[in-house]
Amino acid sequence: MPRFAPDNGGMLIQPPSRAVLGFVPAAAACVALATSIGAGGVDRPGAAKSGPCTAVPDLTSDFSYDRDLLCVELTPPPPFRGASGSVELRRIAGPFAVNLTPDGRLRYAAVVHAEGLPAADSLGSYDGYGAWVAGPSMVPMRRLGPVEPGSVRRLGDVDLNRFVILVAAERRVGAADLAAPEGPIVLRGQSPSMRLAPADFLEFALGAAPAGEPDGHAVHHDGDGGRAPDDSTRWTGVPMPEGVAMLPAMMRLRPDERAWLPIVGDAVALPASRPRSRLRVADGDTLRLTAMAVRHRMFGRDFVMYGFNGEIPGPLLDVDRDSEITVEFTNDVSWPTTIHWHGLRLDNASDGVPFVTQDPVLPGERFTYTLRFPDAGIYWYHPHHREDVQQDLGLYGNMLVASPEAGYHGPVHREEVLMLDDLLVGESGLVPYGREGATHLLNGRFGNEFLVNGRPDHRLSAELGEVVRFFLTNVSNTRTFNLSFGGAPMKIVGSDVGNFEREEWVESVVLAPAERYVVHVRFDEAGRVPLLNRVQALDHLNARFFAEEDTLAVVDVRDTPVSPDLSAEFETLRASDLVARDLDPYRELLDRPVDRRLVLEMRARDLPLLVERLMQIDSVWFAPVEWSGTMPMMNWTSTARSLEWVLRDPDSGRENLDIDWRFEVGDVVKIRLHNERNTLHAMQHPIHLHGQRFLVVEQDGVRNENLVWKDTALIPVGSTVDLLLDVSNPGAWMLHCHIAEHLEAGMKMLFHVAAPAGGPAGGP
Ligand code: C2O
Ligand code: CU
Repeated sequence: MPRFAPDNGGMLIQPPSRAVLGFVPAAAACVALATSIGAGGVDRPGAAKSGPCTAVPDLTSDFSYDRDLLCVELTPPPPFRGASGSVELRRIAGPFAVNLTPDGRLRYAAVVHAEGLPAADSLGSYDGYGAWVAGPSMVPMRRLGPVEPGSVRRLGDVDLNRFVILVAAERRVGAADLAAPEGPIVLRGQSPSMRLAPADFLEFALGAAPAGEPDGHAVHHDGDGGRAPDDSTRWTGVPMPEGVAMLPAMMRLRPDERAWLPIVGDAVALPASRPRSRLRVADGDTLRLTAMAVRHRMFGRDFVMYGFNGEIPGPLLDVDRDSEITVEFTNDVSWPTTIHWHGLRLDNASDGVPFVTQDPVLPGERFTYTLRFPDAGIYWYHPHHREDVQQDLGLYGNMLVASPEAGYHGPVHREEVLMLDDLLVGESGLVPYGREGATHLLNGRFGNEFLVNGRPDHRLSAELGEVVRFFLTNVSNTRTFNLSFGGAPMKIVGSDVGNFEREEWVESVVLAPAERYVVHVRFDEAGRVPLLNRVQALDHLNARFFAEEDTLAVVDVRDTPVSPDLSAEFETLRASDLVARDLDPYRELLDRPVDRRLVLEMRARDLPLLVERLMQIDSVWFAPVEWSGTMPMMNWTSTARSLEWVLRDPDSGRENLDIDWRFEVGDVVKIRLHNERNTLHAMQHPIHLHGQRFLVVEQDGVRNENLVWKDTALIPVGSTVDLLLDVSNPGAWMLHCHIAEHLEAGMKMLFHVAAPAGGPAGGP
């Protein structure tokens, strides 16, 4: 039986010594632009609002604002030595933490500033300047708009993986129709992503492999009833992503954990998994939920996995807002476990956090949870111990909380509740998990197979013109999806804790682990419509982006028209009075000062030299979101002995579980999260707060104009995100990264909420 380390208490802490060695500041000139622009590109010099290319706005502490990932420095070719400028890659406000094209390219508004340019007419028959964006080899080439020397201007959008920006003299009349700059180029710059370079000879020399077999640690097969371990198997390799180069020496690395897989004495004797059932649970009802091992058939073979009540996903619970139900939970798997009811503002005692709200439920034991549902929306439940194993093996299920308000949701023909996942499958089955501690601590365990509701071959059907409401939940360990239904029109209506103020058209849905989004999709073309994940992956060794496109499920759209016809309703973007009224008391608090701050960063120690060297080279640029597992060996072999993910409170100097935040019910608290890019390796973090709800108010200086209550927010690398936390529920609650392996790597803290003075007794 697995040894159970309470709460990772044995984790070593080490000061951040060499974490900064690899960073090369490359955009030092992108500062001192204390200007801002209004909507529509109107120049408004002198305003104080800061943006990524502006001066460091907060010098009062070590809370760093490094803007180099979002700033292009413009430099002049020799004849124009007096000219200078910069282009800020400004966030385009929207429902997601990154603005993406459907195929996964990042999209920013280009905000240009240039000065010291010669008079245009001194260069020939020109009367102005224009800015252009182009790929590294000058295709495609597109004009961004006019440049007015001395002022700041918002131009068109930039959406290339790597690009150059040019400022050239032009004749203003007809400039918009040009295919390429016609006058001399006076300024040019490269996208921050251009700093990535292919590994050079030194790295290849370091990476040359000495001959010999990789070191292996034994795989530990667990008897499901606690039978004697069988140590006969070794780590199998991890599957390599297609088209990604890997140094031979990397291929020899193995995790320094013992391997573990859920193989019981006689897998054939296990019950076959069943598809998810839908259970109506009324106020006052009691539900029995058992975590158990099952035989799950995929890809033509059997996998030993876990399911609640033998189902993958676990039962979908249909409940009413404001109802209260009881769950009698039995643990029939070999791990200690608990269930966390993600997103519910429930009683602290039922929150399911081991050693905080309850003791872990040992194999064979039971625990009773009382759930209440103060908010309509889509929620989910999962274990809160070694999620990297237990949730990955199938322990997850949804709760759909119905609103009593008629018309809370717009009209649709049908609802579909989808849980999106990925799974890491090697040639001989699942890649083993770490037994005493997780593997894949660097990036999280990216899977190589995609599952929708536990199936690699999920199929749906629809009639022509049918409008479907999809409730989407990301239950993967680490993957952030960029989802679209072919080109079917899609509007976003809700997220974690209820609906948006206003419905919005979206081209894709960016869904981080534990987040939920609710979309309406109309299937207006007959045929096979794929549910796609489309992202731009990065081959780090060759500094090359490549498109990844995976089909997660298929919708067969028949050619029989649906009735009734809901096109008119679908095409109307609704605003919700209900949500607006709920938000009204918080609006005047959106501008309150920042109350608490957290820096998100990584700390490494004793890395193999090669790994450290590659990370240092790689750190010249980080993708705001790591979309794909393209560092499989480095990632797989990172364990608690080599790295730690850190939540650091710059105001108290405390980190992770040493942080001691105290609030009182009724407080409204602004929390600023900064994902530090100036570190050996940086990655996005989906930050989840238990037991409360919050608004994402602002990101990278850009206000969020369409609010929705959330419990999980994606913080891209280098970004600064302000949350407004509605402190409404007493108890001891967790704040953590929802990448399962980052949680295992220590990225968690507690905050304590006291009941209001004179109110009922709450938490500590
Ligand atoms: Cu869904 Cu603390 O987690
Ligand atoms: Cu994280």
